[in-house]
Amino acid sequence: EQVPLAPTPPMGWSSWNKFAEKIDDRTIRAMADAMVSSGLRDAGYVHVNIDDGWQGTRGPDGGIRPNANFPDMKALADYVHAKGLKLGIYSSQGPRTCAGFEGSYGHVQQDAQTFADWGVDYLKYDLCSGEYFYADADTVKRSYAEMGAALKATGRPFLYSLCEYGRFDVGSWGRQVGAHLWRTTGDITDDYATMARIGFDKNGKPGHAGPNGFNDPDMLEVGNGGMSDVEYATHMTLWAMSAAPLLMGHDLRETSPAMLRLLENRDVIAVDQDAKGVQGKAVREEGALEIWSKPLADGSVALALFNRGDASAKMDARAADAGFAAITAARDLWRGQSVAADALTFDVPSHGAVMLRVEGK
Ligand code: GLA
Repeated sequence: EQVPLAPTPPMGWSSWNKFAEKIDDRTIRAMADAMVSSGLRDAGYVHVNIDDGWQGTRGPDGGIRPNANFPDMKALADYVHAKGLKLGIYSSQGPRTCAGFEGSYGHVQQDAQTFADWGVDYLKYDLCSGEYFYADADTVKRSYAEMGAALKATGRPFLYSLCEYGRFDVGSWGRQVGAHLWRTTGDITDDYATMARIGFDKNGKPGHAGPNGFNDPDMLEVGNGGMSDVEYATHMTLWAMSAAPLLMGHDLRETSPAMLRLLENRDVIAVDQDAKGVQGKAVREEGALEIWSKPLADGSVALALFNRGDASAKMDARAADAGFAAITAARDLWRGQSVAADALTFDVPSHGAVMLRVEGK
């Protein structure tokens, strides 16, 4: 059973996309510092998540110990908490994690208690090295439920993130095992083709998403350098329209002003974080052009015009796309200005997106 800890999709940062297993206490602290000084915390990004690579060996009592790069996990959690942030950690169901570190197999309750004792607030639980005995839906589900129950039994509130790549229709049972988010896909990489394949086509079933349970199309690559500014804006637009978790994946010390504008755009974040928790979807498709709609709690609707093609295109937003008879007001969220409701035609660059919030009747 789920603890209602994620009324809206989680926002924060995770170490994996940029640092992989090359992480240490200093880097995590530096990210917490940068999250505050950049204004990202105040824009809503509060989770600082250590992904794979922190683990050492088990002690004589079987308790998991961090490796030498993390001398004191409790002190690190205290540091992160003192900044008004939350600390996340990573483990896997199998004996080994995806990067070959110690997994939680055979130590589920013990690891949950250790994480709670350290002051951890968030667990991402992967599905590596145990594939041969986690080959069927029931076993996978039982194993995720076991960790969900173990986290709950600690009495400490944990956000619980499943990383099982969208197998076994995870969205239909993620909530039952206590999870707040579940991956819908394999790993993202920092290129437009992969990001688009996931964001447009592998972002889970919209019906599974809602307050306290969200499809997770993987972490953001914004700021890692492999896409153009236009493509990164599309990445943000897609994730916000999808009510996806917004977990940054770059070195926060090196966020360019352009990337900061993408990540901190309050109007775009508000669409992602809308209380209704609806996952938007395509309502009109014309070749490489897709028009997406996401109904919002105040009765307005977010519309996104995506051009997946290789040439720029003229695209228009229509009242019917938003489920209205007429659009009465519109705001261009990336430009930060209102636009005349009867002039919703835009030149959208190749791989680009226009994002609107419209009111209507
Ligand atoms: C898997 C996950 C990634 C990351 C790595 C760590 O590949 O999908 O997000 O956590 O494991 O090894």
